[in-house]
Amino acid sequence: REIKLVEVRSELAAGTRGASMGIDALKVASLDKKSSFFTQFEPINVPDANNYLWRDNEFPNAKHIDGVYQVLNNVFNTVELLRLDGKFPIVLAGDHSTAAGTIMGIKAAHPEKRLGVIWIDAHADLHTPYTTPSGNMHGMPLAMVSRIDNLDSKLNEPSEKTIDYWNRIKSIGGDFPKISPKDIVFISVRDTEEPENYLIEKYGIKNFETKEVREKGVSKIAEEALQHLKSCDQIYISFDVDSIDSNISKGTGTPVENGLTVDEAISLNAELIKDKRVCCWEIVEVNPTLDSENAMAEIAFDVLETTTNSLVENF
Ligand code: ARG
Ligand code: MN
Ligand code: MN
Ligand code: MN
Repeated sequence: REIKLVEVRSELAAGTRGASMGIDALKVASLDKKSSFFTQFEPINVPDANNYLWRDNEFPNAKHIDGVYQVLNNVFNTVELLRLDGKFPIVLAGDHSTAAGTIMGIKAAHPEKRLGVIWIDAHADLHTPYTTPSGNMHGMPLAMVSRIDNLDSKLNEPSEKTIDYWNRIKSIGGDFPKISPKDIVFISVRDTEEPENYLIEKYGIKNFETKEVREKGVSKIAEEALQHLKSCDQIYISFDVDSIDSNISKGTGTPVENGLTVDEAISLNAELIKDKRVCCWEIVEVNPTLDSENAMAEIAFDVLETTTNSLVENF
């Protein structure tokens, strides 16, 4: 297997500006740590559509959805080609909406393979324009790929144009669900809203809470998470840096308390990626404009480097 670095300077879908600089912050962190990590890879740059940020936003329930659609379509195309070529994409992205494009690309390359998702995050990211409290689309990627609108929990009346774009996004890579909600495993999800709780309960989505990670230890949690996805043929891991506790993770748009320690995040990802079914890993939501001394990116870089090394050692 060969690793390909995919860089997506996305931030349209975040509520706070600056996440598109997260990738460059990771590069600065690698220099500070005198690591040769970024010299090893020829990166693929995915166009970001961030020019949409400076236009009037006409979509309060799905902010900048026209631009987000373009970014996801770009990520989808890139990841599909890499997977068709047998490459292992490591995706460095800004906001977490891009994970939907990644999943769509993985699925399009191998539609016959059942795809499981390990989602390490403070958030469930299961909202839709109908249920979102914020209109920020980084809270929606898992609904995009499982194609669940959750009208049972409807709170908003999105405009026709919003719904039109929403349907187009859900159809990137084909008019069918890319994953089943049952094939999602959450780790450290702890800040959800009622419409998301409804779905978690309805589909019995597994969540390993921070407390359980600490009590059982990382290797046991990794083992159980992978066991939960035993019927899946391939696995995608999404690492949102806000899974790490807010005392440590200041440089991210939506920090939440009671999160993972840095050591837990590092060993968890290094452990999970050893499973041969894992075919793609993504890291998101570093926002250096909210930080001092580039602290979040330094931590995120350690996770990135350790995870990649673990992958290479277990190829
Ligand atoms: N659930 C909240 C919302 O929809 C927060 C989502 C945060 N998502 C993220 N990828 N950081 O606004
Ligand atoms: Mn997230
Ligand atoms: Mn999050
Ligand atoms: Mn909340």
